[in-house]
Amino acid sequence: MKKVNNLNKKEIGEYYTPKNLAINMVKKIRDDISNSDILEPSVGDGIFLEPLMQYNPKSIDCVELFQKKCDFITNQYNSDKLNVICSDFIDYSLNCKKKYDIIIGNPPYIKKSNINEDVMTKSKKLLECFSNSNIKIENIWVSFILGSVKLLKKNGSIYFVLPFEFLQVCYSEELRLFLEKKFNKIEITVFNKKVFPLIEQDVCLLYMTNDEKFNKEYIEYKVVEDENNIENFAYESKIMKNKPLKKWTNSIISDEETELIKHKSDIFMKISDFGYTSPGIVTGNNSYFIKNNEFIKATNAECIPIISKSILIGNKVIFSKDDFNELIANNKDVFLLKLSQQKQNYSKELIEFLEAGEQKKLNETYKCKTHKPWYNVPIIKKGDVLFFKRYHLIPKLVINDADIYTTDISYNIRLEDKYDKKSFCFCFYNSLTLVMTEYCGRFYGGGVCELIPSEFKELPLPYQQISDTDLNKLDRMIRNNERVENITDFVDSRVLKKFISEEEIKIIKEIRNKLIGRRLK
Ligand SMILES: C[S@@+](CC[C@H](N)C(=O)[O-])C[C@H]1O[C@@H](n2cnc3c(N)ncnc32)[C@H](O)[C@@H]1O
Repeated sequence: MKKVNNLNKKEIGEYYTPKNLAINMVKKIRDDISNSDILEPSVGDGIFLEPLMQYNPKSIDCVELFQKKCDFITNQYNSDKLNVICSDFIDYSLNCKKKYDIIIGNPPYIKKSNINEDVMTKSKKLLECFSNSNIKIENIWVSFILGSVKLLKKNGSIYFVLPFEFLQVCYSEELRLFLEKKFNKIEITVFNKKVFPLIEQDVCLLYMTNDEKFNKEYIEYKVVEDENNIENFAYESKIMKNKPLKKWTNSIISDEETELIKHKSDIFMKISDFGYTSPGIVTGNNSYFIKNNEFIKATNAECIPIISKSILIGNKVIFSKDDFNELIANNKDVFLLKLSQQKQNYSKELIEFLEAGEQKKLNETYKCKTHKPWYNVPIIKKGDVLFFKRYHLIPKLVINDADIYTTDISYNIRLEDKYDKKSFCFCFYNSLTLVMTEYCGRFYGGGVCELIPSEFKELPLPYQQISDTDLNKLDRMIRNNERVENITDFVDSRVLKKFISEEEIKIIKEIRNKLIGRRLK
């Protein structure tokens, strides 16, 4: 059995459920508890146990990896209905013959990179119990869902607290499709307020049942205020099972709205059709390798121009040489050291700098160890156009007139010769492409939206040849922080109106507002 003291929270995924949330989750399923066999697969400090006991279950089995926690539960609760099992839940689900009416809990959150090899091998074995082998175990909570499905009685229910990413990341897409087929009723609850104050990521509740009284053709998606109101929803919508959504968070818009934006997107080329997209440079340590002009002059180091923070680009569509020169004049860190030679070939100042890095053991860090020599950051080609993968209100696609490189904050797009970068960028800022950035992206606590490369490449782009006058006008509008509405009105008038009616454009704008409202709540 494991000792808890030596492990950190990332390795054991230990974020306990707030008491009121546990009480209210149990309350919601109270009518099903009496006489039921119940399982808590990762019991921790047992926050669900007391509320469950109140409703007279037949048995409660609780599993926990750590002996100390199991001892705590055994000492805390004196009930012959309670059975504490000290085990890895993946093991337990592979070997247990007993089946349960209700499985309730808050599975650990442990990224694949922190899951130990043995648990990973067992998780893969668990996956083999199901026909759908496309499910990806990128986090341990996926194994907990699979293990629980395996241990469920025919009419049983699962009620879990899960990270919000369950609803939107690509790696859980197959899992969501699998669950859609498996369960008669699925209900998702999301919160307007933060329920776990200590963690950055929001959570959601997933309730799934095969109770025969339900046979719902849709997944219910409920938005509630906080953990004290999980049965009073502020907003409710449905996700039809026969029209699967890539991300369940998108159920905030109706089926008709989804159809409209998908159908309209199909009319146009995708970003990937225009050229080649690659991620920016990964330095391994931006503050060490990216320096200002003063440093470059003082050390006589070879360097290349680079942007490592989207804030340095600011609001603009055309990033010009003048814009970059202004950053240099303001002594911003905009030069990436380009050092491929042995140390002795460099200036005294640069040698001192590199030796100071070695003293701080930067040469032993994960990324630098892969470079030869350790300070030789691999350069990836720059793009004609830059897309900054994270954004707040409006995504940033910028013409790279300054001929700069970027770090991995952006994707670099090199267009095929037949497309011009000015038109490409201008056309991006239309209502349809912008609504699709919301629909395809994922968001985190705090509301920042991010598009991974595959999501970015899928965006529709209604490309047309655009005049310099129009482009300069758009650049001015964006530089002047004009309202997004005015910007899209202008771009729509040039690129969308030929293909999409005014009425439909209005609806598309409303959809975008809904999706943004969900993200920036
Ligand atoms: C997110 S906490 C939840 C605890 C409790 N269920 C709650 O809701 O507050 C996850 C718990 O899972 C335990 N755990 C981590 N890996 C496990 C595994 N492979 N099998 C069983 N329990 C595990 C951790 O020790 C921790 O107590």
